[in-house]
Amino acid sequence: MVSVRLMDISKNFAEIEILKRINWEIQEGELMILVGPSGCGKTTLLKIILGSLKPNSGKIYFNEELINDISISKRNIGFVPQNFGLFPHLNVHENIGFGMKMRKASQDKVNFQVSKIIKMLKLEDLELRMPNQLSWGQQQRVALARALAIEPRLLLLDEPLSSVDWVARKEITMEISRLQKTLEITTIYVTHDITEAFDIGDRITVMSASKIEQSASPEDLIKNPKNEFVSSYIGHNRNVQRLGSLM
Ligand SMILES: Nc1ncnc2c1ncn2[C@@H]1O[C@H](COP(=O)(O)OP(=O)(O)OP(=O)(O)O)[C@@H](O)[C@H]1O
Ligand SMILES: [Mg+2]
Repeated sequence: MVSVRLMDISKNFAEIEILKRINWEIQEGELMILVGPSGCGKTTLLKIILGSLKPNSGKIYFNEELINDISISKRNIGFVPQNFGLFPHLNVHENIGFGMKMRKASQDKVNFQVSKIIKMLKLEDLELRMPNQLSWGQQQRVALARALAIEPRLLLLDEPLSSVDWVARKEITMEISRLQKTLEITTIYVTHDITEAFDIGDRITVMSASKIEQSASPEDLIKNPKNEFVSSYIGHNRNVQRLGSLM
């Protein structure tokens, strides 16, 4: 298990400052939810933790280790991107084993681990299918399986459920929550769904354009929103979603 600490992380694209001096801590084994309006920088922040983007300034620590210059594969992070990122030319089994193969695991070990994860995520009937033969929800499960197969020390989920319907989403959300607790993986989970955030988050972080407004437990966020932005973002989105679930 790992804790994550960001110190004064800033990121510019061209002249525009997308992240401004972000300070953020995620504790060992915590399920941290990240919410905020579209374009505020959530994916950018995840990519900086993943290592696919370099910050312009600031430091990233896993436990006490500074990891700014550590490569993506050595960071050992399971990542489910917004579009799932499955390899179209690999079947489900091969997609799930891909990260292990990249890390030079033996074929026996890959097969063993992939079978274990396939059982865990109930993908047995889909093992030999290609991604274009899967529904969105199934692709999402495979992407999650692929992220878990490397036994990551940190799991980053970028809106993994945005394209599946409400019922399937509820089911998968609970599955993720259960897996996260069983496997004890520190997890950062980006979502637009505030109800989902309140259902499963140990803590919730609310971002506005380029900065973090507040990180707190669900109860605290409701009782003590730090400012107008947080209270209206949470209040408005919860009401909209409550209505949505009734329709
Ligand atoms: N490679 C890039 N070059 C230039 N601008 C970028 C790049 N990637 C992202 N941006 C900009 O950075 C801002 C933050 O993008 P980001 O994808 O992090 O937002 P987000 O919070 O994940 O949004 P969403 O909820 O829609 O996924 C946006 O204004 C986006 O247009
Ligand atoms: Mg995003």
